[in-house]
Formats: sequence, structure tokens, C-alpha cells
Amino acid sequence: MANIGIFYGSNEGNTAAVADQLKEILSGMGSGHQFEVRNIGEAIPSDLEEFDHLILGIPTWNIGELQDDWDAFYYDMESLNLRGKKIAIFGLGDQYGYSDSFLDGVGMIGEEVIVRGGELIGQWPVDGYEFTQSLALDIDTTKFMGLAIDQDNEVDKTPERLKTWASQILPQFN
Ligand SMILES: Cc1cc2nc3c(=O)[nH]c(=O)nc-3n(C[C@H](O)[C@H](O)[C@H](O)COP(=O)(O)O)c2cc1C
Repeated sequence: MANIGIFYGSNEGNTAAVADQLKEILSGMGSGHQFEVRNIGEAIPSDLEEFDHLILGIPTWNIGELQDDWDAFYYDMESLNLRGKKIAIFGLGDQYGYSDSFLDGVGMIGEEVIVRGGELIGQWPVDGYEFTQSLALDIDTTKFMGLAIDQDNEVDKTPERLKTWASQILPQFN
């Protein structure tokens, strides 16, 4: 049984709400793992290190920039040791409004996770999304580094995407 921290940042509440939905789905899947939702704006690096594995919720803001609290935390990541942890990322963005910087924040934090020794899991196919550029693309460019959620245009698709992704990542936390 593992303790898994779901750390999110959110300027307008979308990512916070999705983090809660995800926790409910994961907790209802009977894995025995414990899930805790935390705001990255109130966290220091050692808070993340206390968990066995992590899920990070990251919206992109201001045309290709990190959300405010993730932006502040980014500079603390230098001291973060993620070795031995599996890290799944979900990103929120607006694929039509910000097509040239869709989910860029996921790429910025994703790169840093790898540098800090974490193992990224939960890559998600780009099929079905419309965008021109994204820093969130995995080395295999047919996938994002994590789950892509678009509450601005495709809120109706979110519950199914979360359920599919939850079943994808959950076995990997064992
Ligand atoms: C001024 C502004 C800039 C944004 N820039 C981007 C962007 O560059 N890329 C992207 O994918 N989404 C962008 N978005 C969309 C947000 O990521 C999206 O609305 C998200 O759901 C916000 O999540 P939050 O409420 O948790 O902060 C932007 C939204 C606004 C209002």
C-alpha cells in the first residue's frame, strides 16, 4: 500500500476541482493506496518527498507560463529529490485559445521531474486534441508527458478521460 500525494496549483479553481475528482475516482478503485490532495501553493519540497509517489496537477497560464504557485515552486525544485518515485502529471489548458502553447506548463515541470530523478508515468496520446505547439510532448511525440484536460472546451470529456487515465496509472503505483 502506497501513500500518494496529489499536488495541484490553480488560479481559477479548475485544476483544484479536477484534482478532487481524480482523488474520488482513484480512491473508489479499491487499490488500498491512500490519496491526499494538497495545494502546491502551501507546500515545500520536503512535503512532496514524504509521499511514496506523486500526481501533479498543472495548468498553463499567460501564454506558455506556469500557474503562479507552480511558478514559485519551480525555483524550489532545485532541492527536490524524486529518486525512486513514480510521478504522473495531469495538465489543464485551452487547446483552441492557446494552440501554440497548449499545456506548456506540463513540459516545464515534467522536464524538472526527470532531472530530479523521478520516473514519469501516465503519458497520454495526442490523438483527438487540436493544437499547433506544446512543450508537453513526450520524446515520443505522439504522446503528452501526462493527461491533457481542457475544461474550457471539452469539460464533457473530462470524467471519461480521468477514469481511463486512473486505470492506466494505478497499477504502476504497486
Ligand atoms: C490569460 C490566460 C492565459 C492562458 N494561457 C494558456 C496557455 O498558454 N496554454 C494553455 O494550454 N492554456 C492556457 N490558458 C488556459 C488555462 O490553462 C485553463 O483555463 C485552465 O483550466 C485554468 O486552470 P485553473 O483554473 O486551475 O488555473 C490560459 C488562460 C488564460 C485566462
